[in-house]
Amino acid sequence: MDKRIVDSEEREEDIFEKNIRPDTLDEYVGQKEIKENLRIFIKAAKMRNEPLDHVLLYGPPGLGKTTLAHIIANELGVNLRTASGPSIEKSGDLAAILSNLEPGDVLFIDEIHRMPSYIEEILYPAMEDFEIDLVIGGGDGKSKSIKINLPPFTLVGATTRAGDLSSPLRDRFGIVSKLEYYSEEELKDIVVRSSHVFDIEIDDDAAMELARRSRKTPRIANRLFRRVRDFAIVEGDGKITLDITLKALKRLNVDDQGLDNIDREYLKSLITKFGGGPVGVETIATSIGEEVTTIEDVVEPYLLQEGFIKRTRSGRVATEKAYRVIGIDYNFGLFKEV
Ligand SMILES: Nc1ncnc2c1ncn2[C@@H]1O[C@H](COP(=O)(O)OP(=O)(O)OP(=O)(O)O)[C@@H](O)[C@H]1O
Ligand SMILES: [Mg+2]
Repeated sequence: MDKRIVDSEEREEDIFEKNIRPDTLDEYVGQKEIKENLRIFIKAAKMRNEPLDHVLLYGPPGLGKTTLAHIIANELGVNLRTASGPSIEKSGDLAAILSNLEPGDVLFIDEIHRMPSYIEEILYPAMEDFEIDLVIGGGDGKSKSIKINLPPFTLVGATTRAGDLSSPLRDRFGIVSKLEYYSEEELKDIVVRSSHVFDIEIDDDAAMELARRSRKTPRIANRLFRRVRDFAIVEGDGKITLDITLKALKRLNVDDQGLDNIDREYLKSLITKFGGGPVGVETIATSIGEEVTTIEDVVEPYLLQEGFIKRTRSGRVATEKAYRVIGIDYNFGLFKEV
């Protein structure tokens, strides 16, 4: 693909992202339990004049982990420093980030499960006692260990794979929150909110339709909203109607279950190539030319949640709902098996 096109796409998404991202817990839609708990923990930390306990946010992509990290720093009234697991390659990198923090700051480490384990170990004393032990080469050729005190800070870690975190790291987070998929009502609120931010009119039934087809994920709701907005401006009179929405969704290949191309390919492969399973995730991934991690982190959580597939000891199994969506008779499928 033309690199310039990709860049302008990203820029559009970045600009949109900045405008659309909620800044406060009040503006953050859904995730009621997490929000109410955080509200209390943040208030208590402020009353005690202590940093907030370390927070681990986990859940599928696009559910609002990064957004929540920003909100936490904002509600605490402190700076947010960000880093991502794979970008921290040397212990010195992490030591530099940590020693530059100001008291009370939030350090956000995205994709924290991808941090190398020798770096993870530096975090243990940093999280527990606000200090790090650095091993440095002395002038005499011998290495020595020095202790550096850190300002009190809050680590906010985000991951799509809590299971990949080592237990010593996981245990050091005082607040562990799993983000859930959103209800259609909540997604509708998000779409309506976006329409207000961008000052474009949207009909109620159009907002609901977008919500229904967003894979229960705010990022997808906003992405579909952006595209439908384009159709409304170019092919309509600037207002997002149900008619325009249905037309746009059709062109975008989003079906009425909200499944996208990869979801459908996954189900189709599972059913037509592997008789509906059980089959291993690696085998399915290879058959549709996708990475196992994409399948496990992005595709399957939603298909599981919505009951299209089941995870069994011997592999993935398609449910009747999956057969229906692919248009193959479930009983006939079973009959063939016997
Ligand atoms: N609760 C929410 N209310 C309103 N908008 C939200 C909410 N959660 C997420 N969004 C919007 O959805 C988009 C994706 O959110 P975000 O980037 O925080 O997801 P994420 O969980 O960090 O995803 P990833 O795992 O891919 O990093 C953003 O545009 C954000 O503004
Ligand atoms: Mg994120």
